[in-house]
Amino acid sequence: MLDDNGHAKLAKLIDGKAISRAVRSEVAEETQRWTQDGHRPPYLAVVLVGDDPASASYVRGKARACGEAGINSDTITRDTSIAQDELIGLISDLNDDDGVDGILVQLPLPDHVDDDAVIRAIAPEKDVDGFHPASAGALMIGQPGFVSATPAGIVELLERSEIETRGKHAVIIGRSNIVGKPLANLLLRRGIDCTVTVCHSRTQDLPGIARQADTLVAAIGRAGFVTADMVKPGAAVIDVGINRVDDSSRERGYRLVGDVDFDGVSQVAGYITPVPGGVGPMTIAMLLRNTLDAARSRAQVALAD
Ligand code: GUN
Repeated sequence: MLDDNGHAKLAKLIDGKAISRAVRSEVAEETQRWTQDGHRPPYLAVVLVGDDPASASYVRGKARACGEAGINSDTITRDTSIAQDELIGLISDLNDDDGVDGILVQLPLPDHVDDDAVIRAIAPEKDVDGFHPASAGALMIGQPGFVSATPAGIVELLERSEIETRGKHAVIIGRSNIVGKPLANLLLRRGIDCTVTVCHSRTQDLPGIARQADTLVAAIGRAGFVTADMVKPGAAVIDVGINRVDDSSRERGYRLVGDVDFDGVSQVAGYITPVPGGVGPMTIAMLLRNTLDAARSRAQVALAD
């Protein structure tokens, strides 16, 4: 973007770390009030199957964040060899356990397990990941239900950065069930009111469509896919990608980059999220929010029964 003197002006950084800290401390305060009002703390059950180090690390991060927010959680670990029926039996027990508010099954699951069947087994009122078809359907028709963490986190970033969405054109690159499709539905909601276009691998003239975006979201998993020539000057660019690229200068031999060519695009965009430190930190914050909401809405239903 150019400033009033025609000089290149760098995009404003959307600080996901700071915004996630703010959401997490709000959830912690609300949780404290909830327990001070005589309720037990919210409880999240996390199911981790197998020994994938990345999944184990994500789960540790979620458990730590729960603890910091005053939310109780346990991680239930099972061997990779667990039979699908046994896993579904475990979820059924958690569904029936009144002390459990939220259930999260860390994905991916081993190849012999059908992820969809396991997700369908979670009671929708405990589906804090928002992956159950009932949650996805509720989002689509504007009914109450859990919204998955990444799309919810993106909308939180836009709102807290005071980026106008009403009547604006949002272009989402990527049609996944966990980001592209739910985000499209969320941005269409009344009150957010975007005009939404979803692009994918078969889209014709993707750069031309991307250039029409007031808000451009990249969620395709290809390092540096969005380049400066695909961005309208002043647009808000949200980078959901987390890609490893080889980097011998780093001790671990790689670095993480997004789907957006950050250096180039930040010369054109009005706002941009970094990777890491943009969308990523928001996902845990929104999981905490969903878990507190699950505890509240379950307590309300129990009262009404
Ligand atoms: N694996 C990677 N991200 C996620 C997530 O948000 N939820 C679950 N359940 N598994 C994941």
